[in-house]
Amino acid sequence: MRIDILTLFPEIFESPFSQSMIKRAIEKGYVEIHIHNIRDYSTDKHRSVDDYAFGGGAGMVMMIQPIEDLILKLKGERNYDEIIFMTPDARVFNQKEANKISMLNNLIILCGHYKGIDQRVRDHYITKEISIGDYVLTGGELAAAVVVDSVVRLIPGVLSDETSALSDSFQDGLLSPPVYTRPANHNGWEVPEILLSGNFKKIDEWLEEKSLEITQRVRPDLLDE
Ligand code: 6GU
Repeated sequence: MRIDILTLFPEIFESPFSQSMIKRAIEKGYVEIHIHNIRDYSTDKHRSVDDYAFGGGAGMVMMIQPIEDLILKLKGERNYDEIIFMTPDARVFNQKEANKISMLNNLIILCGHYKGIDQRVRDHYITKEISIGDYVLTGGELAAAVVVDSVVRLIPGVLSDETSALSDSFQDGLLSPPVYTRPANHNGWEVPEILLSGNFKKIDEWLEEKSLEITQRVRPDLLDE
């Protein structure tokens, strides 16, 4: 998979992509992530990337020219499966969407800032819009890092068997059951006895039951879907 991220704040991505699982995925060649600074594509003498909104109102709007030049350059180099715009006024991202995106080869992710981007970029270049939740972030960068993290870990080979995504919360529509490690007794806090029993059929039943119980308590909405 190749992911091209278009942003006004490239430094935001330095840390999330240089640690742990994503770092390993990049090193092992499962994914290439290219960060592009939109400002580098501005052609006016002030290197402008935004302008006042037609019709007034507070806030600057990201203008078409630098974004368009960058998108057209990338599209000239390869075919893209999706050109995604990160924005709070979109459908909310979930595991099902992460699964779908993890099967794609080439992806552009455009991060919005200021009041938004010129609607014509959305109308003519964007093929998918993603929000990560019902709250507003300063920009799309942190949201893009969230989407990339959730997608890259699903690429076959990125996770080992022990950390397989198949046992994730949400993957079967339920939240994950609790987990424990040694010691079996920490100052009187005991691990549930069933987990020490060696009876794997019973253990599986217990885990399933816990999953349901936790989902019912904290996310009953998931059970309606
Ligand atoms: Cl994708 N962008 C911004 N700016 N805020 C958000 C978001 C995205 N998703 C939730 N809030």
